[in-house]
Order: sequence, then structure tokens, then C-alpha cells
Amino acid sequence: MGIDQVDNYLDAHRAQFEEELKALIRIPSVSAQPTHSDDVRKAAEFVRDNLRSIGVPADLIETPGHPIVYGERLDAPGKPTVLIYGHYDVQPPEPLEPWLSPPFEPTIREGNLFARGATDDKGQMFTHLKAVEAWLKTVGQLPVNVKFLIEGEEEVGGANLENYVSLNKAKLACDVAVISDTSQFAPGIPAITYGLRGLAYFELLVEGANIDLHSGTYGGAVANPLNALCQMIASLKDGDGRIQIAGFYDDVRPLEDWERQAWAKLPFDEAMYQKGLGVIGLFGEKGFSTLERSWARPTCDVHGLWGGYSGPGPKTVLPRKAGAKLSFRLVPNQDPKRVAELLKAHLKAVCPPGVTYELIEQHGAPAALVEVDTPAARAASKAIEASFGTPPVFMRGGGSIPVVGLIKTQLGVDTLLLGWGQEDDNLHGPNEKFCLADFHLGIKASAHLLAELAR
Ligand code: BES
Ligand code: MN
Ligand code: MN
Repeated sequence: MGIDQVDNYLDAHRAQFEEELKALIRIPSVSAQPTHSDDVRKAAEFVRDNLRSIGVPADLIETPGHPIVYGERLDAPGKPTVLIYGHYDVQPPEPLEPWLSPPFEPTIREGNLFARGATDDKGQMFTHLKAVEAWLKTVGQLPVNVKFLIEGEEEVGGANLENYVSLNKAKLACDVAVISDTSQFAPGIPAITYGLRGLAYFELLVEGANIDLHSGTYGGAVANPLNALCQMIASLKDGDGRIQIAGFYDDVRPLEDWERQAWAKLPFDEAMYQKGLGVIGLFGEKGFSTLERSWARPTCDVHGLWGGYSGPGPKTVLPRKAGAKLSFRLVPNQDPKRVAELLKAHLKAVCPPGVTYELIEQHGAPAALVEVDTPAARAASKAIEASFGTPPVFMRGGGSIPVVGLIKTQLGVDTLLLGWGQEDDNLHGPNEKFCLADFHLGIKASAHLLAELAR
């Protein structure tokens, strides 16, 4: 009994795996929306019950927010321990109109499973459960010790997981962590991601008069908070895409020459990229390539802006207040707290007269760089090659997975970021998808990883 039986089991159970994933996806576990808190719990219970059914004892861990699912199977004494992290919560599906099929009714079109959470992260996370199932249903035990930590607040950046990890270091002790919540480089080009950006997220509120004012009576004599907000936002970046906050780039870790050279060799088709997005041109910080801009350079983006009137027809009003949501993607060595301080100083300097403002810090996480010149990363390369038929490329990613930093600081280990998704999976957007072929390749790679890590 060994890896051949495991592979046979995987081949024989493809339909079952897909049906189970669909059942998990049908639970609208939107962590940000209080109306869905029962569904979030149902998804946690689903994951717990699935772990139990495959032979991994598991429980829900209550938190002040959504529960954490923890399960472990420690039947390989003397062998390494792998901590598998994933998240069962999903982003809100809104806006609903662009969806071709309902967000929580998983639908297969051209080999892709379309639904909210298909790739981020239900589908990717589930690959590891199915890999473990194959081992336990054939060989009867795992080649390494496995701990599952599946949370329900990743998409809202809650502090509950952080508390749990720091209070349970001994329980979570491991030799390596594995997360599948990123992407491959391209179809047919699997990747190991060795760096992710961090995040500093803010809400900026600006207030003027104590009531909305007629812009004819008062316009020109009283500051307009919405204008003031736009001025403040416009001051954050120059026309070349450089962030204008004093000191912002001080801690930015420059790209290494070897990285720039390696990335320049990746088969990245800029014209296709542009075409796929439907933009008339690409834009970013001068002096950097598109991959460099999106993986290794910081950003400043506005995500929402409100104030005044935006219904049909004109309304001449000076809104009483205005607000914006904005964030900075951070790169290695930038500290989210320092970025907040620098932003505060900048806003103080640029806020126009006649209005007051308030800056609310939402959440922050530093960027992550993980060691990949390690036996564990070599094991992952072999496992990926055994499944995908080609070894992975090494890349970074532009998104953020705060737990990677937590695993390093609290548990002292590096994370293998083994993404099975594709860049165009529309995570967080309408028509999110996960390629079913990638789902099965991911399961097989995970099953082989357990064997490779045992060596
Ligand atoms: N899976 C993503 C992170 C991701 C996206 C990594 C794309 C690599 C490429 C994760 O679920 C996510 O969305 N993270 C949030 C951060 C969180 C603090 C809200 C993000 O990146 O915006
Ligand atoms: Mn995710
Ligand atoms: Mn996400």
C-alpha cells in the first residue's frame, strides 16, 4: 500500500470530491455580513464534519467572532508535522448583476466551477482534505503528522485568529505550514509563491458644516468636504504613480537583481494581460515592470468614495460630510503602523482649511517573504511536478495573507504557498471560478507532498 493506491483513490473519487465541494460552496459563508453569521457557522460545521468523516478528529473553536476549525491526526511519530491553513469564509458576492449564474449555486461551464469561494478559498483549501482522505481511506494512516487550522475571518482581517495562534503555540507547533490560497503563474505553469504584499487599510471621513448646504447660497464661501476629501486623496500620488507621503519609501526593500532577472524570464504576455482586462493601457510606477509593480512595489488605492448626491438628475448641494476607504499594499520591511503614522502626518499637512477629518485604521498586516531554499520547498516542487507534470516556477503575489507572518513570528516556521488557482479566477469579483482540472491536480500534489515531506 502506498502512493499508487492513493493516486487510484483520487482518480476513482473525482465526482464525489466535486459534489462535496459544491455542497460547501452552497453555504453563503460571507464573514463580513452579519445576516450570514449562521451560514458562516454552517460552513465551519461542514468543514469539521468532513474532517471527521475522513478520519481526522476535529472541533470548532469558539471565538468572539466566527469559529475556527481545528483538526489533527498525529500518527507518524518521528516524522515532520505539517500545519495546513485555509479559510472557509468568503467575500460578499455583490454586485449580483454581473454574475452569469447565482454566486452560491456552483455551476460548471467549460471545465470551471463558478461560484463565490470556488477558488478563494473553499476549493483550494478542500484539496488538502481530499488528499488526506485518500491516504486514510487506502493506507489507513498519514506519512506525516497533520494539523488543520481553517478559519472563518480571513476576509475581514479579524484579530481572533491572531489571538488563538499566539495563545496556542504548543498545540500548533509544526515543522512547516502549507497554504493554498494563491495562484499558479499561468495555466500549465504551477508556482510556489515566496512573497506576498502586506496591507494597511483606512477609512477617511471629512466633515464641514452642520447641515447640507445649497451650493448657490453657500458655495464659494464654505469649504466642501467632498472637494476637500478629493484634494487630500489626490495629494497621495503623483502622475508617475509615486506615493507622495514623506518617508513612505524609506523602509521599502528594493528588488534584488536576481529577482528582476528571474521575473523578466517568466512567460508574461503583457499585451494579453492588458487585453484580458479590457483596459486601454497599463499604468504604474515608473521604472518597474508590470510583475514588479504588482508583486514587489507598494500601492495606494481608493476602494470607495461617498458623499453628496449620486441619484438621477442634478442636485446642487455642499454635502455636510464625505468619506473614503483606501489602502496601501505594503512590501517587505514596511511596517503598517509606521505607514499609518506617516499617513497621519501627511493628511495633517494637506487638509485644506474649513473642514475637519478623522482617519480610522481598519487593519494592517506586514508583507511576507518565505524561505524557499529549504527541504520542504524542494519536497513541494517534487510533489507539484508529480501531479502537474512540470516543476513550479517561483513567484511572488500581490495579495495579502496575514497568517503567513503570524506563523513565522508565533510558530517560527515558514509557509509553503502552493496556489492552485489562476490569475483570472476573479476572486472577490463577480463570476469567481476555479478550474476543476486544477482542483484535482491540487489534490494530487497535496497527496504527494505528504509523502515527500516524510522523507
Ligand atoms: N486569497 C487572498 C489573498 C491573495 C490574493 C493572495 C491574490 C495572492 C493573490 C485572501 O483571501 C485575501 O483576499 N486577502 C485580503 C487581505 C485581508 C486582510 C482582507 C487581500 O489581499 O485583500
Ligand atoms: Mn483567500
Ligand atoms: Mn480573499
